[in-house]
Amino acid sequence: MSKEKVEIFDTTLRDGEQAAGTRLGAREKIEIARQLVRLNVDIIEAGFPASSPEDFEAVRMISEQIEGPVICGLTRARIDDIEACRKALAKAKRPRIHTGIGVSEIHIAGKFADEKYGKTMGEKQARILKMAVEAVKHTAQYINDIEFYAEDSGRADRKFLYEILEAVIDAGATVLNIPDTTGYAIPEQWGALIRDIRANVPNIDKATISVHCHNDLGMAVANSLAGVKNGARQVEGTINGVGERAGNAAIEEVVMAIHTRRDFFDEVETNINTREFYRTSRMVSDMLGMPVPANKAVVGHNAFAHSSGIHVDGFLKKRETYEIMRPEDIGFDESRVVLTARTGRHGLRHRLEEMGYKLSKEELDKTYGRFLSVADKKTEVFDEDLVAIISDEIHAIEHIFELEYLHVASGTGTLPTASVKMKTKDGMRQAAACGDGPVDAAYEAIREATGLSPKLENYSIRAVTGGKDALGEATVRIKENGRTFVGRGISTDIIEASAKAYVDAINRMVTAQRVSAETRKSKS
Ligand code: KIV
Ligand code: ZN
Repeated sequence: MSKEKVEIFDTTLRDGEQAAGTRLGAREKIEIARQLVRLNVDIIEAGFPASSPEDFEAVRMISEQIEGPVICGLTRARIDDIEACRKALAKAKRPRIHTGIGVSEIHIAGKFADEKYGKTMGEKQARILKMAVEAVKHTAQYINDIEFYAEDSGRADRKFLYEILEAVIDAGATVLNIPDTTGYAIPEQWGALIRDIRANVPNIDKATISVHCHNDLGMAVANSLAGVKNGARQVEGTINGVGERAGNAAIEEVVMAIHTRRDFFDEVETNINTREFYRTSRMVSDMLGMPVPANKAVVGHNAFAHSSGIHVDGFLKKRETYEIMRPEDIGFDESRVVLTARTGRHGLRHRLEEMGYKLSKEELDKTYGRFLSVADKKTEVFDEDLVAIISDEIHAIEHIFELEYLHVASGTGTLPTASVKMKTKDGMRQAAACGDGPVDAAYEAIREATGLSPKLENYSIRAVTGGKDALGEATVRIKENGRTFVGRGISTDIIEASAKAYVDAINRMVTAQRVSAETRKSKS
């Protein structure tokens, strides 16, 4: 059976940016728009050009620079708004104007209270209908892709809603946006509204129905999906669900629901490249300064994290036991087993094996006991902690190399160089090297002196005390033959702390290699 397309209309740059306390510059909007192209949304609502010179400029730049999706601009049902939007969209290859007006009695009474719009509700409605038709007709002179929004449709008088929708289709509207502007709807009601519009608007087959749901009661996604189930073929939303008040429908949730529950949404599909969701989510979050909650559906940090013993065990035996989506389909690297006090022995062993440690039963028992006491004190036990536990419990660290002397020269316009002296049980080793910076030069000299060059996976430095004479703690993570080793070093001199951390990691690596070699020998 061939499926119908549900078009995805992204309004992160318009309704999303209306989130309290946020503002995006034109350049940031372009960055996000480029990412939305990679995500393959069908329509980008780039802004509301008549609302400010900045919005006008953003819509103009996006129209000029972004190709692929339809580029849309918002207007009120006013000729001056439409003219501004038309100018801003002038360079768009596929422009759309999104015009509309409030249609519920609450909106009409509040926004069109002035008697110039009529004295009674009936007179006002007649005036609103006329304004809507004029706006669409004016737009139709220049553009044939016209979307009309009937603001606050959810609370509108049904008869008037059907009437205005029929009139704007006759005037040239090709997409009808049915917004739940205040997030008031319940999924069954919203689905029924879309069904009723299809049954009661005679010329509805000439237009696509779009749903635009807000999240005030936490039902924006559910309402949008109910709309799709009842014939809506465009869904409007934002990345991470950002937007006015409690936000809009989260696009990643709508799309992944259609994708994951294709058994239920069997008539439809979307064009979205879901693998770009994670990246898009983080970009929008960073640029708007709105962090993604860890438990956010689809894109939250914990969306693919398993922690409790029963879950970890079930997940490790068969992923589908506790996962309905594949992390890679959203752009996550992989699922995560988060080690906490609730993680069982099986989860710990699995993580240690992934890190390259194969422990005997006794060794695992010892490690697990120590792991539990660390986990009791911390919310999450990281790989670095495990490495430290293993070094203490299983491998007594041998100080095979000791840093006796370190001299580093660096500065503006000079090539950073370092010389080291390392003490070993066979005597002193010396080496000198240059590098991209003082730490790099020191590490190069240490590699020369030890004759070892494990892959440096991670390096970080932090101040452990305050003030001018603060102690710096460096942590490095190295990898060799699939095994990870972490070293730490502390000093008031951050270059020295960094060198000590590297030597510490190398000592742990060599100790572990010796222990493995001895174990192999004793088994053979
Ligand atoms: O929520 C709403 O009604 C809107 C319209 C302007 C489309 O954002
Ligand atoms: Zn909205």
